[in-house]
Amino acid sequence: MDERRTKAITEQILQLKSERKAVFLVHYYQRPEIHVLADFLGDSLGLSRQAAATDAQVIVFCCVHFMAETAAILSPQKTVLLPEMKAGCPMADMVDVDGLLDLKAQHPDAAVVSYVNTTARVKAESDICCTSANAIEVVNAIPQRKVIFVPDKNLAHWVSRHTDKTIIPWEGFCPPHDSLRREMVLALKEKHPNALFMCHPECRPEVIDLADKVVSTSGMARYVQGLPEGATVIVGTERGMTERLRRDHPNKTFLIPTDWLLCPNMKKMTLESIRNALETMQPVVRIESDIADRARLALTRMLQVVGGS
Ligand code: 13P
Ligand code: SF4
Repeated sequence: MDERRTKAITEQILQLKSERKAVFLVHYYQRPEIHVLADFLGDSLGLSRQAAATDAQVIVFCCVHFMAETAAILSPQKTVLLPEMKAGCPMADMVDVDGLLDLKAQHPDAAVVSYVNTTARVKAESDICCTSANAIEVVNAIPQRKVIFVPDKNLAHWVSRHTDKTIIPWEGFCPPHDSLRREMVLALKEKHPNALFMCHPECRPEVIDLADKVVSTSGMARYVQGLPEGATVIVGTERGMTERLRRDHPNKTFLIPTDWLLCPNMKKMTLESIRNALETMQPVVRIESDIADRARLALTRMLQVVGGS
């Protein structure tokens, strides 16, 4: 889209936003032209906290479906707009509820810890939720010694390195993060021997072994803030984050190890879809109340463990 058109649609959105008294919650993986609309830009934990805390009656969630569902679960009396309903998360879709119920029946003494990257139905069958920022803290805080961890096997593996509890992983994964290979990072490190490597815990264990820092997206923003000017960092997460870091830190260098680190679902959201959603006040994320009530328990337990409730 050319610059003039981007500016014109942005102005229309800001006008509608003020008329609707809407708040914009935006994930780091969104497009740069959407970042500028954010009242809050952050990771999935920060977005959950904001969704629970905001006074606004209308929340425009610029992210993927499970994150908007989280907002609708936490704030059932508010209108949660997800301008692109087809923006799903393939990893969240890798858990089927029947399979989870079977696993629970096999391990009746285990707690189900579900990553927020799950559907409301799966959260409703969970004891507690977690995000990439607090998964270790959540697993260590609960009383059970055995944990069924859904859906990300890589995050489950990362957690298992930081707890003495038994972790039973679901075999899900995030396609973009799981596509990052050790050789790709090593090739960049050879070209840039002073570069630091930070990655998201959704990366494979053998990739995590190479990292100087393993953190959620907000954790990456904080880590980079503390680095000296001139630092070079290889970024092992979706490229929206890298683009944001480049904008915020023009005197630091950020390297992308592979073009596969792109989440097509996060990129489905456009300025046009946001403008249309505010004009029509559609599509609204709705969840059956009995499922929402049970899912809310798992989410509020997480917010009580890590603060934010
Ligand atoms: P964050 O918890 O870092 O926001 O990550 C969410 C996500 O979808 C990562 O792929
Ligand atoms: Fe899902 Fe991965 Fe996209 Fe995050 S980056 S929304 S986990 S597919």
